[in-house]
Amino acid sequence: MFTGSSHESLAGELARVLDTSLGKIQIETFPDGETGVEVLQSVRGRRVFVLQSIAINPNHFLMELLIIIDALKRASAKSIELVIPYFGYARQDRKGMERNPITAKLVADLLQKAGAARVLTMDLHTEQIEGFFNIPIDNLYARPVLMKSAEGLQSPVIVSPDLGRIKMARHFAEELKCEIAVIDKKRVSPENVEMGALIGNVKGKDVILVDDIVSTGKTLEIAAKVCTLNGAKSCRALVSHALLSEKARFDGIEEVIVTNSVPSSNKRVKQVSIAPLLGEAIKRGLKGESISSMYRSMKI
Ligand code: R5P
Repeated sequence: MFTGSSHESLAGELARVLDTSLGKIQIETFPDGETGVEVLQSVRGRRVFVLQSIAINPNHFLMELLIIIDALKRASAKSIELVIPYFGYARQDRKGMERNPITAKLVADLLQKAGAARVLTMDLHTEQIEGFFNIPIDNLYARPVLMKSAEGLQSPVIVSPDLGRIKMARHFAEELKCEIAVIDKKRVSPENVEMGALIGNVKGKDVILVDDIVSTGKTLEIAAKVCTLNGAKSCRALVSHALLSEKARFDGIEEVIVTNSVPSSNKRVKQVSIAPLLGEAIKRGLKGESISSMYRSMKI
């Protein structure tokens, strides 16, 4: 298992879960800004894994990942399997407006062209992105890791802060055996959102907002405000990926739980680790066992 430089602490944790050590690789930046890579051990004929999150500085980490794949391919690795805890550029997954790109497809093409044989990722922004790949892709769910924080609430209700997260909300609600509610969100700029109607009942309930991404925090903050105005008793949030900007404040939200798919030093959120989840999926993949069935049997 090798890692790029996007998330070395998660890669180290994952290596410990898998009872292995990280492969030796040197990544450097040339004076003109280009990335150079040297794999410092033989990988000939080996099944190689590379962990990299495409976040924080997505252009740099994507290019670094492509260069690592190329180095491993030219070093005769048997196969190169990517562990991408956060798959960046996923929000541009369709032509939202005329003359927009579809970056999720572009990134999928680049990874395959470089030599990736398989991808393990988590909570893709939309599941259709799986179809952008012509290699196997396993899209894990952070739900079992996040759910622990929702245990013990007296009258929970799962709230989707926009129409895109209804399916995610329904899955959380099925496990908690509670109702869902949905807010009609409209993004007016990359940094601002407007909330419309709330569909469902949150009066007197402990609201659990669920989302795949938190960035500026505006979506969660305004959704919590809508819930409070509609009589919610308390509000908390469970989010898969924290792409937190400095401006994120989370007014009106008791706690925000995120996974460590992306490194974060933000003190306003609590991070839970996905290393056991990734590790279990990799172990099962190596043994040729079902990955979907692990959600029924595992205690993460
Ligand atoms: C949007 O489709 C996503 O699911 C998130 O709701 C969004 O990215 C959150 O962004 P922010 O925290 O900046 O409102």
